[in-house]
Amino acid sequence: MKCPSNIIENLTVCSHPLISNNLAILRNKNTSSEIFRTAVQKIAQILFYKATKNLPTDKIIIETPMMSTQAEIIAPDAEIIIAPILRAGLVFSDAALEILPQAKIHHIGLYRDEETLKPVPYYNNLPESFKSPEKTFIYLLDPMLATGGSALAAIKLFAEMNVPEKNITFVSLISSPEGIEKVRSKFKNINIVTASVDKGLNDVGYILPGLGDAGDRAFNTPKG
Ligand code: PRP
Ligand code: URA
Repeated sequence: MKCPSNIIENLTVCSHPLISNNLAILRNKNTSSEIFRTAVQKIAQILFYKATKNLPTDKIIIETPMMSTQAEIIAPDAEIIIAPILRAGLVFSDAALEILPQAKIHHIGLYRDEETLKPVPYYNNLPESFKSPEKTFIYLLDPMLATGGSALAAIKLFAEMNVPEKNITFVSLISSPEGIEKVRSKFKNINIVTASVDKGLNDVGYILPGLGDAGDRAFNTPKG
């Protein structure tokens, strides 16, 4: 799997035939919601493997049926948080949980005001603080990084709880150059893992070529 991260520091763009094949399905306007969700989950799993490469590990001794050996496991004191941004991030989090069932899920309710394009918060179930912010690893999941407003609002919640930027990873299917730039202008050390950096935004803040409205397509709620 090619996941070059040399375009911009801390930006990982994953390319793989399975990703591009599923991206083609997602971008196609004739894809049904059912197939759309399945394709999101397939890409999400690959991205999530890549995103979690920053998890700390410990070495332990285990017994195989043959002998003792050293093994490497995810550090048991790492607090792993999966934070899907509602609604569309939910499809992503199902896939992430399959890989890391021990993670905690904190839902972040945000929608983008269609007129102002500003994020409007409506829900989160975050604790007041994390016991050890340095050992807390956040994976924010949202299929679309468009203007970057929603991403910034969500990242801010965790940065204000003293989680180091290097421990926060934003995982998206499709990102715009404008959104990446906006996130990095405020949080330079945040990790971004994405399957595609598209051409840019249209004049109403949609990604081109993009895939349209991710939430509406995933949950079969077309506008109008
Ligand atoms: C979409 C998407 C992101 C946001 C991205 O959500 O899932 O959360 O837009 O746009 P931005 O980068 O310009 O902030 P939307 O607001 O449509 O909510 P929904 O998932 O509930 O449909
Ligand atoms: N939100 C979406 O769902 N799609 C876009 O292209 C931009 C924001």
